[in-house]
Amino acid sequence: MEAIIQTKNLVHTYSAATPFERTALAGVDFCAYPGEYLGIIGHTGSGKSTLIQHLNGLLKPTSGQVLFQGTDIWSDPKLTRRTRFQVGLVFQYPEYQLFEETVYKDIAFGPRNMGLDEGEIDRRVRAAAYFVGLRDDQLDKSPFELSGGQKRRVAIAGVIAMEPKVLILDEPTAGLDPEGVESILQNIRDYHTAHNATIILVSHSMEDMARTVDRLVVINDGRIPFQGTPREVFRHGEELEAMGLGVPQLTRVFHRLRALGADIDPSVYTLEQAKRAILDALERTPRKAHSGLLGERKKEPGDMKFSAPAGNGAEQASSGAGKGAE
Ligand SMILES: Nc1ncnc2c1ncn2[C@@H]1O[C@H](COP(=O)(O)OP(=O)(O)OP(=O)(O)O)[C@@H](O)[C@H]1O
Ligand SMILES: [Mg+2]
Repeated sequence: MEAIIQTKNLVHTYSAATPFERTALAGVDFCAYPGEYLGIIGHTGSGKSTLIQHLNGLLKPTSGQVLFQGTDIWSDPKLTRRTRFQVGLVFQYPEYQLFEETVYKDIAFGPRNMGLDEGEIDRRVRAAAYFVGLRDDQLDKSPFELSGGQKRRVAIAGVIAMEPKVLILDEPTAGLDPEGVESILQNIRDYHTAHNATIILVSHSMEDMARTVDRLVVINDGRIPFQGTPREVFRHGEELEAMGLGVPQLTRVFHRLRALGADIDPSVYTLEQAKRAILDALERTPRKAHSGLLGERKKEPGDMKFSAPAGNGAEQASSGAGKGAE
C-alpha cells in the first residue's frame, strides 16, 4: 500500500549556524498509511512536535523530503497550501489558540479559509461540533465561557471541520481528567471510523497508546529507533525505559517475570494477552515443574505465585493496569 504521508531522510536544524543550533530531526524516514491509526511516542524534546509540523508543511526541512500522496509538498506552493488543509494538525493545548467571539466562528475559521460557501461551512461546523460532543446551544457562546475540556473540544472541532484526510493530534488528552481523556479518545476514534481518515496521535502515555493505536513509532533524539505494533514495540521494554519511556504496567510486570527467569512473552499489555502468555508459559513447562517456572532461583515472599491457577495469576499481574483490557 502506498503511504499517504511520508518523510525521506528528514533533517531539521533549529537556529542553524548560531550558538543555539540544535538538530531536532536527524534523518527521519517516517510513513503513515491511508486509514491507519498511528501513535508517535517519545520523551520530552525527542522531536515529536518538530516531526508533525513537517507533515503539514508548517516547518520546512533543512534537508530531506515530505511527501503527501507521493508528491513532495514543497515542489509547488499550491501543493503546500493544499497539504495544510488535508493534513489537519491539532496543537498541544490548542485551546490557547481560540480567538473568535463565538464557538461557531472559531470552528468555522478553517473551512472559511478553504473558500467554502456558507452552506457547506455551516454543515461542517455542525458536523464537527457533533463529533466532539458540543451541543447546538454552545455554538453561540464565547469560547472563553467554556470549561477547559470544552475549549479543547472546540479547538479539535476547528480542525475536524476541514475534514482532513490525515488528522494529527499533539497530546490531545494532556491535562484532562480520566473521563475527559476517555471521551476525547472516543471522539477521535469516531472521526477515524466515519471518515476512514489517517490518525496520528502524539502522546507520552503508553497506556493510552497501547489501547488505541494500530502501530507505534518511537522517537528518540531525533531518530526512529523502532516502530511496529504495540506488542512489537513493548518487546523493547528495557530500551524504552532507558529512553525515559515507561511501558504499560502490565508489560513491566511481565518483563520483570522474564528477568526473574520465567520463559514468558513480555510484550503483553492487555489482560487477555497476559492470560494467554501465562497459559502458553505453563503449557511449555512440564506440569510438575510449574512451581519452577521462575528457574532455579529460590523463591522469596515477594515473588509472584506462578503455581497458582492461570486466572488468578492474570488478575494478580494486572492489578493497577487500569483499562488495559481489550
Ligand atoms: N523553536 C525552536 N528553536 C530552537 N530549538 C527548538 C525549537 N523548538 C524545539 N526545539 C528543540 O528541538 C528539540 C525537539 O523539540 P520538539 O518540540 O520537537 O520535541 P517534543 O518531542 O515535541 O517534546 P515535548 O514532548 O516536550 O513536546 C528539543 O531539543 C527542543 O529544545
Ligand atoms: Mg512537543
